[in-house]
Amino acid sequence: MNLQVELPGRKQSLLLPNPIMTASGTFSFGLEKGHGFNVQDLGAVVTKTVTLRPRAGSAQPRTAETPAGMLNAIGLQNPGVATILRDFAPKWARWRVPVVVSILGATVDEYGRLAERLEGAPNVSAIEVNISSPNATRGGMEFGQDPETAAAVTAAVVQHTTLPAIVKLTPNVTDITAIARAVVEAGADALCVINTLQAMAIDTESRRPVIASTFAGLSGPAIKPVALRMVYQVAGAVDVPIVGCGGITTGEDAVEFLLAGATAVQVGTATFVNPSAPMDVLEGLRAFMAKHGIDDVNELIGAAHSASG
Ligand SMILES: Cc1cc2nc3c(=O)[nH]c(=O)nc-3n(C[C@H](O)[C@H](O)[C@H](O)COP(=O)(O)O)c2cc1C
Repeated sequence: MNLQVELPGRKQSLLLPNPIMTASGTFSFGLEKGHGFNVQDLGAVVTKTVTLRPRAGSAQPRTAETPAGMLNAIGLQNPGVATILRDFAPKWARWRVPVVVSILGATVDEYGRLAERLEGAPNVSAIEVNISSPNATRGGMEFGQDPETAAAVTAAVVQHTTLPAIVKLTPNVTDITAIARAVVEAGADALCVINTLQAMAIDTESRRPVIASTFAGLSGPAIKPVALRMVYQVAGAVDVPIVGCGGITTGEDAVEFLLAGATAVQVGTATFVNPSAPMDVLEGLRAFMAKHGIDDVNELIGAAHSASG
């Protein structure tokens, strides 16, 4: 059975041993133990978003449970790119699983500088460009909601890296295909669809927002149908590989995203419920393929489009 998929890039391609990746911010930097599976068996590890300087993150409370999902406003807590390169990259160098580093700049220029810093880092195999976090005071979603700024960020990154640039899109727009087209035109090698949906919760006793920063990002099974619809739409609009993300919990969820046009998928919130969720999704995908006599996972990619003619 072939599970290998390829995300071709302008200068280098990202070859994944299988289509299952972790989602940024839900698997830290891949170095923590206790997942109950071997990280090396994943398709790729995507890191927490990294910024130029360390960030402490938002005030508590910054997470809350919702029916079929969760809210988070972590505020991009991370130790900064210098620490990542010094302390984590040497460990990634010993891995066979590719590492994708997620980056976020407060300015367009900062995105370019971050890409430059990661060039040549051992086993860093692609950059995920976060223009979709609803929890950044500057940069993030604000950049990803405007086609011109989204394109400017993408151009700044691709100019400073030979690695494939996967631009992660926000669902908090009227027409995601307009942003997708703009970033592909600016040089994006692939797209990750989607980040969290902007949301909130209110405590009826205190009559105050539950999350300290008021708004937060909604993730988990609740957003899966929205993410799937957006992957399908983006796949019909652009010609670069798509990484599907949003509520994926089972192998069949992954199959749905592949059929909608994703080449690979990411597992996020499911990991908080079941720490071995990414591996369970991979096993579920394998079982689905075996049951349906599918020898090559690539057969599934985009098949829902051709079937619907
Ligand atoms: C606690 C938490 C932290 C997150 N941090 C980041 C982040 O740093 N960068 C990013 O691009 N996405 C971040 N995300 C969004 C996820 O990567 C993913 O796009 C989203 O949660 C939808 O997928 P899911 O439903 O499988 O979680 C975070 C999500 C959660 C739940």
